[in-house]
Amino acid sequence: MKIDICFRKEVDSTNDWAKQMAGEGAPEGTLALADSQILGRGRRGRSWKSPAGDNLYMSLILRPEIPPEKASGLTLVMGLSAAQGITDVLELPVKIKWPNDLVIEEKKFCGILTEMNADRQKIRFVVVGIGINVNNSAFSGELQGRATSLKLEKGTVIDKDVILEAVMAAFEKNYKIFLKTQDLSGLVEEYNRILVNRSRPVRVLNPVNAFEGVAQGINTSGELLVERADGSVTAVYAGEVSVRGASSYV
Ligand code: BTN
Repeated sequence: MKIDICFRKEVDSTNDWAKQMAGEGAPEGTLALADSQILGRGRRGRSWKSPAGDNLYMSLILRPEIPPEKASGLTLVMGLSAAQGITDVLELPVKIKWPNDLVIEEKKFCGILTEMNADRQKIRFVVVGIGINVNNSAFSGELQGRATSLKLEKGTVIDKDVILEAVMAAFEKNYKIFLKTQDLSGLVEEYNRILVNRSRPVRVLNPVNAFEGVAQGINTSGELLVERADGSVTAVYAGEVSVRGASSYV
């Protein structure tokens, strides 16, 4: 896969722009990159703060030949790749909060939003959007105390291009590994090594049957294995629920 960067100063959302380009036939590897977003979107209908200048907002178009139900694994592949790329260049203790938030010292600095266009059997395209807080100097309101940036953690201004390159290089490598088996079997060990939830109490927030347990790690499908007090283990699918620490965000 060759990464081909398309840049705009300001867009509504790079995910929407990427979906538009994909609909018009843009090939796999096209990366929609913007300096700011007016309507940056997060998971579960939340917004993603996207001021100009400081950060990375980008969405990668993929056209994997895999069954649509396996596409959610790509979010985990991107999360792992961003963690690896950033750790390589900055040597910060980056961890993954399942399924795909990246945290440093329990504070979130990166989120991923994957969207797919498919029919029942075939994927037309997948857009993996990633937002990385690179050079924010402070956070206010509800983000205060819960969010961070690479600059705040490292103590110096960070070159956004270096981060972009490192993340995409790691993704290219991991994407190949994922496609070979069409699951996470080649990546699961490394993912679980840096999983912040591992061996910790978690609350699975599911409106139907919320429950608590201890996270054991992910399986090769990317589901989080949660052991309950009675010893039974439930595989939690990322699309259905979100996970919180039993007493905090992580
Ligand atoms: C989350 O943690 O809830 C996911 C946040 C995803 C934000 C990125 S920024 C680039 C891309 N464009 C969007 O509108 N959202 C994603």
